[in-house]
Order: sequence, then C-alpha cells, then structure tokens
Amino acid sequence: MNPASIQLDAQGRLKHFLTIEGLKRQHLIDILDTAESLTGVAERRVKKLPTLRGKTVANLFFESSTRTRTTFELAAKRLSADVLTVNIATSSTSKGETLLDTVRNIEAMQCDMFVVRHAASGAAEFIARHVRPHIAVLNAGDGRHAHPTQAMLDMLTIRRHKGPAFQDLRVAIVGDILHSRVARSDIHALNVLGCANVRVVAPRTLLPPEVGTLGVQVFHDLDQGLRDVDVVIMLRLQRERMSGALLPSAQEYYQQYGLTEERLAVARPDAIVMHPGPINRGVEMASAVVDGPRSVILEQVTNGIAVRMAVMSITLGNQSSPAEDA
Ligand code: CP
Repeated sequence: MNPASIQLDAQGRLKHFLTIEGLKRQHLIDILDTAESLTGVAERRVKKLPTLRGKTVANLFFESSTRTRTTFELAAKRLSADVLTVNIATSSTSKGETLLDTVRNIEAMQCDMFVVRHAASGAAEFIARHVRPHIAVLNAGDGRHAHPTQAMLDMLTIRRHKGPAFQDLRVAIVGDILHSRVARSDIHALNVLGCANVRVVAPRTLLPPEVGTLGVQVFHDLDQGLRDVDVVIMLRLQRERMSGALLPSAQEYYQQYGLTEERLAVARPDAIVMHPGPINRGVEMASAVVDGPRSVILEQVTNGIAVRMAVMSITLGNQSSPAEDA
C-alpha cells in the first residue's frame, strides 16, 4: 500500500494528509505560506475565522498526546468547525470495537474530517481508504511511520528563523531515529525543500536499517555531528517502543548524546534548538538548553496551531461535498 498515492486527488491536490513522502515542494510551500498567513489570527481580539463553519472534525487519538491533540482541537475551533474529541480510553474500543467500526459510527454522525493518532503504522491510511470520498483524514502520528504536521510545524519554525533558503542550511537530528516518526517526516520534508546537509546523530542501535537510503549523513559522535549546524532537532528516547536493551542506561546516553550548553558551542552561534516534545530533561537535553536563549521549542507548539489550521483548510477545501458522494 502506498499512502502517498491516495492523499492526492486526480489534479494532484492534497485531499488527505498522511505523509510527506510523494509530495512536491509546492505542496509544502503552500502549507507553509497558508500557515504563515494564519499566524495572525492568534493576535485578533476574536481568534476565529469562518473557514470551516458547518464542518465537523473528529479527533481520534488511540495514543496519548498533549501538543498534537490540543493544537488540532484549537486549530479546528479557530476555523469555526464543530469538534468531537473522542476519549478512546473510555470509548467502546475497550469493549472490542474495531477501528473501522469506530470510524463508521463517527462517520454516521456526518463528520467531515478525521484526525487520527494510532500506534500502528498505516492506521491513518487505512482509514483514508475506507471513509466516504468527501471526508479528509489527517495523520496525527502513526507508529514509527510518519507525523507530517509535526514536520510542517518544524519547517515553519525553521523558515521563520532562518529564511526560505533551506538549501543553505545544515540540520542535525539527534537521538532515537529508529523509533521516531518525527525524524522520518522531518528528513523527507527537509529533502523536498532542498536541504542537502541533513545529519542524523545516534548510536548504531537507534538507527533504522534503511538509514542509508534516507539522504542523510550519519554521525555517531555528537560533537562531530553538531559542528557548524544551523538547526539542532533533538528527539525523545521512545522507551515505550523499545523491545530489547538498545541502550546501556539513560545516564550513559546523556553523557554521549545529551545536549548541554557546552556541547552546543560547536554549532553555529545563531543555531536554534528544537524538540517535538515531550522532553525527558536530563536524558536528551539539559534544562539550561531547553529553557535557554537558543531554544524555540515552545514556538514549535504555537506554530503547530497555524500549520494545523492550514492543513485543515487546504484538505477540506479540496474535498468533494457530501452530496457528490452519492
Ligand atoms: N510532538 C508531539 O507529537 O507531541 P504529543 O505526543 O504531546 O502530541
């Protein structure tokens, strides 16, 4: 199955947002430009636009989330949509209802968009293949596979600090690449936007076997990987996805790969530091860096609202009307 092939309509326009793979530079630029134009909504006295008035957005989060779930909800509300956030822990999923039956029942409530987070890679694509044609599906993170809106909010944050010339940037992604859907989506987005100097910095045990095909330079030494970079993207150690002993200890990991102010000194003086969250302070990063002057971590969260508003507007704008489904 190829998620890239079903997220575009016959005209090549985005109708679902499942992955960065298969998208062209112009798709990403459209999302970034639309998001940029929507950042001002937060400054208004009434933080609302009528774009999705009369539309219903269903948030289905089968995995825990703080940032993605709340910013999707806020984004939908700022666009005047009605929002259903289904509490999966207390839903009939616990009684054995299948994913598809859950989707079919919410679909029967005349919803127009599903925002889906699931532990299984491919879950959002699976739903996209089964919903009625007028419904848009947005991937809010599926297994190790993809987290495309996180990648776009990361690209917006980079562009706001470093300008649009991605080809001139050096970007280091540090940590648990193996389990990270954020790393995969960020790498694809940086490649599409023309960044030729993308580095991954990790122990061998936390690199995916296909790393050689991703268009990145591989470093096992943090000081070498960070030298002269413009952007540092730190990743969380995803212990919940680790089946075996991939690491000696959190303390040893921090000694080798933890980002401190001293280690950041080899990056460019104006380098920015990012992290998708949630952060394990003292494991991936020192608190002095998390809360320091180079950190743009909370800006990433704010930018997530505008990016999710943009993706919702673009995909629903490209969908057929329910009447056309019949
Ligand atoms: N970045 C991110 O996906 O965070 P949450 O798991 O809190 O949504």
